[in-house]
Order: sequence, then structure tokens, then C-alpha cells
Amino acid sequence: MTVAIVTGAAMGLGQSFAVALARNGYRVAGLDVADLGETARQAAAAGGDLLAVRADVTDAGSVAAAVDEVAREFGALHVVVNNAGIYPPIPFDRTTVDDWHRVMRVNLDGPFLVTRAALPHLRAAGWGRIVNIVSAVVFLGPPELVAYTTSKAGLVGFTRALATELGPENITVNAIAPGLTHTDTAARSTGAGGGFERVRALQSVPRVERPEDLTSTLLYVCAKGSGFLTGQTINVDGGSAKH
Ligand SMILES: NC(=O)c1ccc[n+]([C@@H]2O[C@H](COP(=O)([O-])OP(=O)(O)OC[C@H]3O[C@@H](n4cnc5c(N)ncnc54)[C@H](O)[C@@H]3O)[C@@H](O)[C@H]2O)c1
Repeated sequence: MTVAIVTGAAMGLGQSFAVALARNGYRVAGLDVADLGETARQAAAAGGDLLAVRADVTDAGSVAAAVDEVAREFGALHVVVNNAGIYPPIPFDRTTVDDWHRVMRVNLDGPFLVTRAALPHLRAAGWGRIVNIVSAVVFLGPPELVAYTTSKAGLVGFTRALATELGPENITVNAIAPGLTHTDTAARSTGAGGGFERVRALQSVPRVERPEDLTSTLLYVCAKGSGFLTGQTINVDGGSAKH
């Protein structure tokens, strides 16, 4: 059975990804600093099973212990979904060095640390899928998200360069770029104050994006049959950025 780790699985997109993978027969571990009880309940209701692991993706020791626990519990590891991320809207001239570093730590150090810890297990399995959740902001460059956009553009670079290194080992590395998607965090931050309406006006498909809109792309990228797809950034945003 295929084993997947989803970071940031306690809520939002990560919760939706973890439940979708569980529903589709993956054995799934959710990694989060927050409680994963609701995700575990939803995975069980979908007929699956979720291993809940509390870990901070910015902490190398915490990540190494979490990934080892998953591999020990499930006996293998094949898929890593680097989803945990933060996107605080801050005007550039009010962005402090601490703000900047916090965004880079979660959005870039996190995927680096989780991927590095997972890699020996993917190699041992003989194949693997690394999926990085970036954002359509890398194409659109919206205001008040300079640190965030920079971090996600960095993650696109990570995706491309790592795909080159790992291709010969049957390990693919791809990115999925959602548009502004209705999660509780987005509703409180980037989607607030008319944000959803402004983004919807740019889209070809004129409705607010939902986490479920990303499920088919995630399953496609993770599938064992997708071994020739690598180094790509797949934009799923209702057509606001025609990439
Ligand atoms: N919602 C959107 O509009 C949108 C659009 C494009 C891209 N994205 C990206 O999708 C991902 C998820 O977004 P979301 O809206 O679901 O966010 P969210 O806030 O709902 O969920 C993020 C999850 O990550 C966890 N997390 C945060 N820091 C962590 C850390 N250091 N270690 C472990 N877990 C941590 C949180 O506890 C939370 O459960 C992010 O990478 C975000 O940048 C979101």
C-alpha cells in the first residue's frame, strides 16, 4: 500500500488532501503543530485511516522524529505533500525581518527539512512523489504578499532543481499552485475585505475555489503512473493566471 505524509493536515487544504488520499486507499500520516483529531475523524468517515503526528516543520529534530515514526508505523514511505505554509498579508514597507524570516522558515525550511528526512525512505521504496503546494501568486505577484510570493517562488525553484537530482531514482518532484481558496485562514486574511470577489473577477471559472477543486490534480501527480511528470508547477486557479 502507498504511504503518504501530508504536512499542515489539521485544517484547510492539508486536511482536504489527507482525507482525499485516505479515501483513495493511501495510508496517510498528517503532520501538524495543531491537533489532527478532526482530520482523523474525517479520514475514518471516508473509510481510511490517519496517523496523527504532532511536529513543527521548521524544527529539524521534530521533523526527523516524525518522519521516522511514520516509516516505522507504516513500514515504508512513498509520497510527501509539503503543504504546511503561512501567508500573512503585510505591506512591504511594514514587513519586519522577523516577519520575513518566519515566512521563509515555514514555507521554505519546512519543505526542505521534511523532504530531506523523507528521502532515504523514498529511495528504499524505489520510487516516490514529492508534491509542493505553492500558489498562483508566483504568476500574479499580488500586493501585500511579497515575502509569501518570494517563498513560494523559492519553492518552485526547489521543485525544479530537486526534480533534476531525483529523476534518475524514480522520484518525481512537482508543485501545485492553488488560487485563492476558501479555507478558514484565507477567509480571515487574504480573502477578507472583498479578497474573494477581487480574485473571482480575474478567474475564467467565476466561482470561489474550494479545497476539493485540487483533489484530482493531487491524485494525478501522486499516482504511480505519473512517473514521467516531474519538475512542473501545475496551476489550478480557475484560470486567473493563464500559465
Ligand atoms: N487557502 C489559499 O487561498 C491558498 C492559496 C494558495 C496556496 N495556499 C497554500 O496552501 C497551504 C495551506 O493553506 P491553507 O489555507 O489550508 O492554510 P491553513 O492555515 O488552513 O492550514 C495550514 C496548516 O499548516 C499548519 N502549520 C503551520 N505552520 C506549521 C509548522 N511550522 N509546522 C507544522 N504545521 C504547521 C497549521 O497548523 C495548519 O493546520 C499553504 O502552503 C498555503 O500557502 C493556500
